[in-house]
Amino acid sequence: MARKLVAANWKMNGSAEGNAALTGRVVEAVSALACEVVLCVPYPYLLQVGGLLAGSRIGLGAQDLSEHDAGAYTGEVSAAMLTDVGCTHVVIGHSERRKYHGETDDVVLGKVRRAQAAGLVPIVCVGESREEREAGETEAVVLRQLEAVFAGLDDVGARSLVLAYEPVWAIGTGLAATPEMAQAVHASIRTALRSRLGDDAGALAVLYGGSVNADNAASLFAMADIDGALVGGASLDAEAFISICVANSGR
Ligand code: PGA
Repeated sequence: MARKLVAANWKMNGSAEGNAALTGRVVEAVSALACEVVLCVPYPYLLQVGGLLAGSRIGLGAQDLSEHDAGAYTGEVSAAMLTDVGCTHVVIGHSERRKYHGETDDVVLGKVRRAQAAGLVPIVCVGESREEREAGETEAVVLRQLEAVFAGLDDVGARSLVLAYEPVWAIGTGLAATPEMAQAVHASIRTALRSRLGDDAGALAVLYGGSVNADNAASLFAMADIDGALVGGASLDAEAFISICVANSGR
């Protein structure tokens, strides 16, 4: 059966006081829903938000991790530290990391391996820029990013991912891909998954991300290969995020 998953990506937002109110309301409203929910929050708030999620079914995620194990890497955070503070998931290869921090496909693979070795579920982001879409390269770019990760994983690793298709031009712009545009890419991703994993491909969650909100979520989730969402801006508004989770649990 297809997975149902909504992950919040708070990005570099939050405050001790605001997190308590937002998380408390989300826990109260989504705990009984039929979809998996994960909150990916800034490092300094992982312990706080993890405490607020204790006893709930909601997962805790970080937004990045180091590709290194431990040691002299000032400012970095390891996979083991993330599990130590209760993380279940970690976002890897977000376009903002690729763009502002020069993360290559190789670095993304290294991080996926570290995450999986520590027992974390990587939420791996792929997606094309506006220029790449306009040049007709969407599918090639997305499948290259996907294959770069797949090529370095065994079948157990390949099965233990969450994927997020996030067209760069749709992130934070209010211009979400139409459900049909997103579905076309999700269908290509699913075909690639099927050729690697056979029937197990259906069990892997493929999320859409990029300006998902309370109004467009249901039409995106109505698409055959869109299993859920990675939600940025709208995840900072408890009621909007809850509406997206409700829409996903009813898909
Ligand atoms: P957005 O961000 O929902 O604000 O577009 C999505 C993301 O970057 O994960």
